[in-house]
Amino acid sequence: RSRTAHAPPARLFPPPHWPLLPRLRRPFRAVFLPRRLCGGAAAAAMLRPPRRLPRPPRRAATAATGPGRRLLLSTPIFYANGPPHIGHLYSALLADALHRHRGLRGAGPGRLSTGTDEHGLKIQQAAAAAGTSPPELCQRVSGLFRQALTQAAVSFTDFTRTSEPRHQRAVRHFWGALRDGGSLYKGSYEGWYCTPEECFLPESQLTERRDAQGRPCKVSLESGHQVHWTKEENYMFKLSAFRDPLQKWLQDNPHAISPDPFYQCVLRWLEEDLPDLSVSRERSRLPWGIPVPSDSTQTIYVWVDALVNYLSVVGYPETHGEWWPAAHHVVGKDILKFHAVYWPRIFVHSHWTVHGQKMSKSLGNVIDPFACIGQYTLDGFRYFLLRQGVPERDCDYYDEKVVKLVNSELADALGGLLNRSTALSINPSNTYPCFSESCFPKVLDYRGTKGMGRASAEDYEFVASVASLPLQVASYFEGFQIYKALECIALCVRQTNGFFQRHRPWKLDRKDPAEQLWLDTIIHVTLECLRVYGTLLQPVIPHTADKLLSRLAVEPEERGLSSLTFLPRYHGKPCPFEGRQLGPDTGILFHRLEKSGRHQIETKKL
Ligand code: MSP
Repeated sequence: RSRTAHAPPARLFPPPHWPLLPRLRRPFRAVFLPRRLCGGAAAAAMLRPPRRLPRPPRRAATAATGPGRRLLLSTPIFYANGPPHIGHLYSALLADALHRHRGLRGAGPGRLSTGTDEHGLKIQQAAAAAGTSPPELCQRVSGLFRQALTQAAVSFTDFTRTSEPRHQRAVRHFWGALRDGGSLYKGSYEGWYCTPEECFLPESQLTERRDAQGRPCKVSLESGHQVHWTKEENYMFKLSAFRDPLQKWLQDNPHAISPDPFYQCVLRWLEEDLPDLSVSRERSRLPWGIPVPSDSTQTIYVWVDALVNYLSVVGYPETHGEWWPAAHHVVGKDILKFHAVYWPRIFVHSHWTVHGQKMSKSLGNVIDPFACIGQYTLDGFRYFLLRQGVPERDCDYYDEKVVKLVNSELADALGGLLNRSTALSINPSNTYPCFSESCFPKVLDYRGTKGMGRASAEDYEFVASVASLPLQVASYFEGFQIYKALECIALCVRQTNGFFQRHRPWKLDRKDPAEQLWLDTIIHVTLECLRVYGTLLQPVIPHTADKLLSRLAVEPEERGLSSLTFLPRYHGKPCPFEGRQLGPDTGILFHRLEKSGRHQIETKKL
């Protein structure tokens, strides 16, 4: 169960006040994933003021992925209270792979936003603990995140810091819009507040422990963090009024949250109570945040502030309409409620644990992405996280697993295949050889191929599975199952190695013209497979894919996904690569990794 599973009153929301946002009032239909996503969750439910129930938006009939469609993809913005770890990087890599994949499909203008979440009690306390001021801490940590994302080749187009004036201005405007729409009222709120989670928790999510001095205290069941009784006069948001419309909206849009178990989870939350939310804090307790407009005794709750980054990044309140509502958010399961109840359209992922334990500063088992990239190479580590991370469930990290997976799939299987099929001993002319239809004739039913050519039934089966790979991969990306896309590619790479091995091309006699035809055909088919794998792997391992495609002499304009063909000669069509000189041999595609030590973060750094 996620840490927000049974959230009590004080949680944040961000329903933009739709009347002030005319462009947001369009039905939430034009979302970028065909079939999967039909519109925003809470935002769609909040298109109209609470008392009038919104009409449900119609299901998306067409994909918003067609040419020319805009899409704003986002990572969560990261708390600036500590350095990046692999969990953060995982959120960002998932969004990056989707963004790159979409770009390669030529699906229309896209933006990938990320940034740092810099206000709130948590940051205020972290700064005090580090003996520095919040602005200084944020400056430093935000820089670390930017550096980590850049180093990990995350193709972000926008980086928002919530302390920036343009963002603060957007949050103030947003607040005003809520207030003017009658969604806010002043009320007194009390409850157990958990600072690390920046939210109130109900009794059902608490347990008793003893603190460092041996005194009894209450802690969060989920995270083990201590909670404190907090009683304040706050501004409250009328979230309770949105329960029915939200439920209806989600029921009408079953693909608004992926994967499905998380969608079901949100529906269950909505069956429970949905009380109003406290959306401000007393300024005397929390000076580090954006003041409530026209009430300087209150600070805007950090989640309202943070969620507005998805609007401020595209110029809210002036120009966001060019990008909204086609926005899509990748988030970890712990922040699903903040997004799914209060904000629209979500791809949710689970967490990385380390040797079976939750990653945490206090346990000292936080894995440092910089060190991992240094040790396993950028593409090696990107591949590991995206191939091994399963959004539906937590995944366990240990170094040996990275080495084993990356060596077997990237170094041995993929790299080995390229090496074998381009070796001068086997392909002395260093060209993309010709395909022979007489060796590999087109058949309707490969089971009756005996005696027709040199290819076996197994070869036909294998070629058919590679031919279906691009579509399969695309549909897994659409369904936020990047690990499954990679699994399919890995399986095809194995099959291609099997194909190559089975026919032992190195044994064929080049002087015999019939043998030469078959030898060329084997290499042609293998290079065609490698070209497809290289093209499909670009969103995940951009550098290795580039090296592979360059070796195969695939030009940059031939690397798009929409124009990806496989083995056109088999279908009697011309192959533009046939006879082409291969690119220069720049050495081993992917060097085998050495086993290494752990990559924990030096927590004293901040
Ligand atoms: N600042 C909020 C998000 C606000 S978005 C409007 C926040 N920040 S965070 O730094 O704590 O988390 C950022 C992302 O990292 C979240 O998606 C979170 O789920 C993810 N991860 C944090 N720990 C993780 C793991 N151990 N494993 C995988 N992802 C994890 O929440």
